[in-house]
Order: sequence, then C-alpha cells, then structure tokens
Amino acid sequence: MTFKECLDNRFSCRDFIDYELSKDELINIVELAKLSPSATNMQPAKLSFFSGKSLAKLSDDLLNAVKNNLKSQDIKLYPDIWFEPYKSRRFQTGIRLYEALNIKRDEKEKRLEQWHKNFKFFNAKNLAILHIDNGLNEGSLLDCGIFLANFLNAATYLGFSTCVLGSITEYCDTIRENGVEGKIICGIAIGKKSSDNVNNFKTIRASNEEIIKFI
Ligand SMILES: Cc1cc2nc3c(=O)[nH]c(=O)nc-3n(C[C@H](O)[C@H](O)[C@H](O)COP(=O)(O)O)c2cc1C
Repeated sequence: MTFKECLDNRFSCRDFIDYELSKDELINIVELAKLSPSATNMQPAKLSFFSGKSLAKLSDDLLNAVKNNLKSQDIKLYPDIWFEPYKSRRFQTGIRLYEALNIKRDEKEKRLEQWHKNFKFFNAKNLAILHIDNGLNEGSLLDCGIFLANFLNAATYLGFSTCVLGSITEYCDTIRENGVEGKIICGIAIGKKSSDNVNNFKTIRASNEEIIKFI
C-alpha cells in the first residue's frame, strides 16, 4: 500500500465484524505510531487497551453513565458556541451519515439507538483509550494528535479499520473507574470493517481556498 492509498483508505468505521486483534497485532500498530515526533521527544501519548470482559464492562458502565447523565469531560472537543464554517460542516456530515444509515430526522428512537452504538464501540472487539499524565500542558495534545493520526494510518496499513470516539470522553470519570489514569483524550475502536452500508459513507473535505493562505 502506498502512502496515498493508506490515507485514501482510512475512514471512520462504524460497523465492525466479530474480530479481536491479538496483542501482537495491536503492538505492531503501536510500534509504527511510536515513530511520531513529539516536542523535545517527550512522547506523552499513552494507550490503555480494552478487550473481552474489560471491554464489555466499560461499555455497560458508559451506557449507564449516558442514561444517568453522569457527564465529566477532561478536554473540550467542540466550541461552546458553534459558528461558521464549522457549524455547517458538522451539520452536513451528520445529515449525510444518517442518510447512509437510512435514518430519517424524525426517527428519534433510531437516532438514539445509533448514538448508543458509540458506547458499544460499533461492535469493535478492541478499544484503545488515548490519555496523558496529569500535569502536562496543551502542547502535549498536539503530540497526541500526531500520534493518533499515525496510529490510525498504521492500523489501515496493517489491514485494520478504526473509529476515533470523542463521544465517550464526555464520561471520563467512568473511563477512569475502569482503570485508565490521567487525562483522557479519546477512544479508538479498532477491528475489521463489516460490509454494512455505513462503511461506504465518505466524508467531504474543505476546498484549498478555505484552509490555505500563501503570505
Ligand atoms: C477527535 C475525534 C473524535 C471523533 N469522535 C467520533 C465519535 O464519537 N463518533 C463517531 O462516530 N465518529 C467520531 N469521529 C469521526 C469523525 O466524525 C470523522 O473523522 C470525520 O467525520 C471525517 O470522516 P472520516 O474519518 O471517515 O474521514 C471522531 C474523529 C475525531 C478525529
């Protein structure tokens, strides 16, 4: 697989088959992600892996936290007030995702069921939590972003699919109660994609004019 093919092939997988990666398969992904640069080579990104019983318990606890609204977030993922162009990009992505899922706007029950799938990790049998030690600053989030991107691409390169889960970080205390230490950045569902139509959903990117300025 070329570098371009790897970037082209990566996508957010939202339906996984029953396949659990071995420890060696997970470590092979980490070995590539570890090649990421970081400020002064601090390497702040840490991963806690869940599978089997620990995964099932985390999922149950998260769904319970969702139902009881036990929110606790370490790092705000979204702006407090949505503004353009982010508002429209988010809206359009949501509309197109629900089209791929064949769920209409007024089908509230189905939408809720789909939302809950985040907390079942879209049936992935492996979940990584990306976290950093307490006491680190925002700069370490930049290092983690680079690590995360390389992790996702490394997984793709090695034949696996992934979905980053920001949704579960609304319940950081629940994740900590399940053994993760420090500040929680995101979850990563890892596995093999199913042939479900949701996995054919391809997102759109902003034009160069919107994001580039030559000065
Ligand atoms: C930090 C972060 C958090 C995300 N959280 C979620 C999530 O909770 N649930 C979900 O279905 N997708 C989540 N995604 C996936 C994004 O929706 C997806 O990356 C974006 O729409 C672009 O699509 P693509 O990954 O298929 O290229 C997240 C992605 C990132 C980078």
